[in-house]
Amino acid sequence: METYGCQMNVADSELVAGMMEKSGFAESDSESGADAVFLNTCAIREHAEDKIHSRLGKLRMLKSENPGMIIGIMGCMAQHLKDNILQNKPFVDFVLGPDSYRRIPELLRRHEETSASVVDTRLSRFEVYENLYPSRQEGINAWISIMRGCDKFCTFCIVPFTRGRERSRPVESIVKEAQQAVDHGFVEITLLGQNVNSYRHCDARFPELLDAVAQIPGVMRIRFTSPHPEDVDDDMLFVIRDHANICNSVHLPLQAGADRILQRMNRTYAQAQFLSLTERIRNILPGCGISTDIIVGFPGETEEEFDETLAVMEKIKFDSAFTFKYSSRPGTKAAEYSDHISEEVKEVRLAKLLDLQHEHTLFRNRQEIGKTVNVLVEKESKKSSSEWAGRTDNNKWVIFPKGSAEIFDFVDVTIIDARGVSLFGEIIQVGKKSHAVV
Ligand code: SAH
Ligand code: SF4
Ligand code: F3S
Repeated sequence: METYGCQMNVADSELVAGMMEKSGFAESDSESGADAVFLNTCAIREHAEDKIHSRLGKLRMLKSENPGMIIGIMGCMAQHLKDNILQNKPFVDFVLGPDSYRRIPELLRRHEETSASVVDTRLSRFEVYENLYPSRQEGINAWISIMRGCDKFCTFCIVPFTRGRERSRPVESIVKEAQQAVDHGFVEITLLGQNVNSYRHCDARFPELLDAVAQIPGVMRIRFTSPHPEDVDDDMLFVIRDHANICNSVHLPLQAGADRILQRMNRTYAQAQFLSLTERIRNILPGCGISTDIIVGFPGETEEEFDETLAVMEKIKFDSAFTFKYSSRPGTKAAEYSDHISEEVKEVRLAKLLDLQHEHTLFRNRQEIGKTVNVLVEKESKKSSSEWAGRTDNNKWVIFPKGSAEIFDFVDVTIIDARGVSLFGEIIQVGKKSHAVV
């Protein structure tokens, strides 16, 4: 199984892997040795789909050497393109949307008899994959999906069409899954949803759920992604403030600065509301990391409107940002607008935005210099085998000499430098192990 796209897909792949293992299938360690290859795909931008098309070109060659090999496309691109995939790529055996995964083991068995291709892209109002146990990769962090789908219909976005309507899991089952993850050695829980803070099950909303997960013994860190600004309320911020194990960082997608563009995007907030929301976050949660997503070149975006995005960034100075060139998605409302922006203009705007964000990331990171911060050691630094990399509570990567620390340790690190997007530090004290067995 190969996973593309967002963390929701990572979580879904783990769910499917768990289901497959339970049905007697085993993961192959090489694609050439695999009887079946599944691609869990993304459709958020054209580029994401292009990647899958070229990957399928390679798999087709592999299949010509091994004609029995099953090729399955699952996830958002499968849901988006449906039967069209088979029309253009008849060597594909399964096309399964995000709500059809329970059928995979049965379809694989049935394929042995009929070898007919199957397309199942029915979306469900109820499927939340209850009572399935994901097969997680070893590590620090366990992804737990708490809600699926999105009802926001931002005009640029394909997700409401590929993931269907919003639905949430019961609090008890999320708590149980988090507890199990802790029992298996995970110390960080990331709660996932396309629209994570629209969570609602019976009377429980997102703040109540966060509060319940924070009380599970052994959960050392809780993160969540992605919230929508419309659904961030003070209750959520108070719960974050009141629990030391809920990380002091919020991902808050801005998308654009100008009110006219926000309205055309159907983002449901105006610039002033977004600004006051970030102020509230920083008042209630001092030192909170705020990251964002921004799109440049949305249809009709004028130079002045783009400048407003830069001006909002200047006011907020996000800790980090994911930045994208608008990519037209067939089927969405914005794809039908008549005033699309040229690629050249998008390139220029993106470059400006990246430069500015780079300055802001450095500005925020430099404010950490001299402070001693608590870091969870997560992995070896990519650049040097004598250094560890770990994250702070407010989601910044810190690189520091290993000393006597080990992965899974909490360490106090004094920050001595900020370069690129990382902080650099020295260990002051190795604290407690985040859990007993490593
Ligand atoms: N549910 C999440 C978004 C998931 S998509 C949320 O609302 O925060 C992640 C990001 O991809 C979005 O925030 C947006 O910035 C970007 N994106 C979505 N559709 C896009 C498109 N058509 N073109 C370019 N970027 C897009
Ligand atoms: Fe897409 Fe908007 Fe839903 Fe996020 S909130 S998934 S950007 S429609
Ligand atoms: Fe991509 Fe689907 Fe996630 S479109 S970003 S995989 S929800």
